[in-house]
Amino acid sequence: MEPFLPEHKRTRYCGELRREHIGQEVVLCGWVHRRRDHGGLVFVDLRDREGLAQVVINPEMSKDSHDKADALRAEYVISVRGVVQARPDGTVNPNMPTGEVEVQASSLAILNESKPIPFALDDVSDVAENIRLKYRYLDLRRPSIQRVFMKRAQLARTVREYLYENGFAEIETPVLTKSTPEGARDYLVPSRVNPGMFFALPQSPQLFKQILMVSGYDRYAQIVKCFRDEDLRADRQPEFTQIDCEMSFVDREDIFTMMEGLMARVFKDVAGYEVPLPLPRMSYRDAMDRYGVDKPDTRFDVEIVDFTELLAASDFRVFNEVAAKGGIIRGIVAPGLGESSRSEVTALEDVAKIGGAKGLAPWKVTSEGITSPIAKFFSADQLAAIVSKSGAKAGDLILMVADDYGTACDSLGRLRIHIGEKCGLIDESKFNFLWVVDFPLLEWDKDEKRWNAMHHPFTAPLDEDLHFLDTDPGTARAKAYDMVLNGSEIGGGSIRIHRQDVQSRMFGLLNIAPEDARMKFGFLLEALEFGAPPHGGIAFGLDRLAMILSGAKSLRDVIAFPKTQKATCLMTDAPNVVDPKQLRDLYIKTTVQEPK
Ligand code: AMO
Ligand code: AMP
Repeated sequence: MEPFLPEHKRTRYCGELRREHIGQEVVLCGWVHRRRDHGGLVFVDLRDREGLAQVVINPEMSKDSHDKADALRAEYVISVRGVVQARPDGTVNPNMPTGEVEVQASSLAILNESKPIPFALDDVSDVAENIRLKYRYLDLRRPSIQRVFMKRAQLARTVREYLYENGFAEIETPVLTKSTPEGARDYLVPSRVNPGMFFALPQSPQLFKQILMVSGYDRYAQIVKCFRDEDLRADRQPEFTQIDCEMSFVDREDIFTMMEGLMARVFKDVAGYEVPLPLPRMSYRDAMDRYGVDKPDTRFDVEIVDFTELLAASDFRVFNEVAAKGGIIRGIVAPGLGESSRSEVTALEDVAKIGGAKGLAPWKVTSEGITSPIAKFFSADQLAAIVSKSGAKAGDLILMVADDYGTACDSLGRLRIHIGEKCGLIDESKFNFLWVVDFPLLEWDKDEKRWNAMHHPFTAPLDEDLHFLDTDPGTARAKAYDMVLNGSEIGGGSIRIHRQDVQSRMFGLLNIAPEDARMKFGFLLEALEFGAPPHGGIAFGLDRLAMILSGAKSLRDVIAFPKTQKATCLMTDAPNVVDPKQLRDLYIKTTVQEPK
């Protein structure tokens, strides 16, 4: 190993070399990706952040380099000086951006060695994810993953550029703070100097950004970490990053225009994709009725069909009872799945059951008509009407769920996505954006028997629905909106309540006692009494955007040091036990028994 001397400093990235550099002397620094010994000549594929370059080490050009090259192994760190030359005829590699050239080494320095690595960086398809996460520093070295993180960095840069150009000020908000109501569980941090007291890590900067509007900053934005202790899924991490924005003296239209501009800019810069503006809008109700979810994937056409009226009366008890109780009978068409076997239909039923469905009624459409295990319960007219209403063709399968509105929507929504994937209906090259608007202000919590804010308690009701707050709160719609992309909620926000009296009324509806409200959000309530401007905002999930832009299937692939499903970091082994003294300092005693 050699010291890192001035003459070892890089003059170019490996991945940058092209024909136009032929004849130039360069110094490359990087990792030995591959080493091949061809008798006298040694070839090294040298790798850095920008890509791979081929280095040729010829004993006749540099005996010293050739001797050192003998020792080279994968992932050794080296510096190579040499002249860029055209690759000889027949050895050009069109699959490599640098494939037309190579560097003829005149000197080589081994800057560091590497133990044999636990997995090859080229193909990790059969490396278990926990091994990759344990050796995340090696995993992050892989060229394909480096491209993802370079893209993510470009995404963040473009976002900042756009927001700065539009007058947003980046202001930091605290991480050690008080509970912020976004509906998840808090991460708590004990306070040493205030025994028995805890900070909460922010689920979002919601309260602070509203305060900043009261303080007159007019346009705030921050790329900021948020923390939510919730059950993890592929699209949820316990700590994640928001692009958080708030604006004063605006209504929904102003936010839509500004944020559509942001997305158009990001997708143009990062993916070279022109987003057609303005974005389409869909009401929450429409999204639920047609797609069964509030984040519809509009890249394929299959939509939910309502059969309630048509099939409410028949000899089939299940449907009759559901309809009599005010439930719905709805279905979707699975194109070309008419020949599905019994076990394939059962697999579809299992998908519907995840959404809570109690059963799934299958109908096969043939050129003669329609068949189903339950067909005998219906009249010939009803059977014919099912086909015409659904728009199904011979060879298709119609799948029906009878249940309460929420359950039927959820089950069919899941089934719809499943069918889209199974039947290859989703055009992966598309970016389909839309706004979902007019969300209900409140949702009923069956278990707790109380109203919850659907977005958060600071969201303003639609002006025309204000009167429902007293008469029929469940009907009131909110000035809330989500931005949806390819079936994923990439952002959400609202126009806020800026009047203290309305905010207090809202807390009343949510059954938050005045003293409770004062304890939790007293500072915001008070701030609203000191000249709060009308304001509103939105937060985008930066990780989710990065995931979609890079075609990744999990947030873990776009977060440099992610947590597992069990909310642990396999590289650092966090969380972990701490020194008993640390706990004593914090006045904390755990009730967890030490394993024997
Ligand atoms: P919301 O809770 O909808 O709104 O969050 C905004 C966006 O953040 C992303 N997101 C997540 N990404 C990864 N992992 C998670 N666990 C996670 N949770 C949320 C989503 C989501 O759309 N304060 C409000 C915003 C506002 O009203 O201005 C808020 O946090 O993409
Ligand atoms: P059963 O009478 O329970 O044997 O059900 C007959 C058929 O109706 C089966 O295919 C069930 O999956 C289906 N089914 C049962 N309950 C429902 C429901 N709530 N919605 C739709 N289909 C159902």
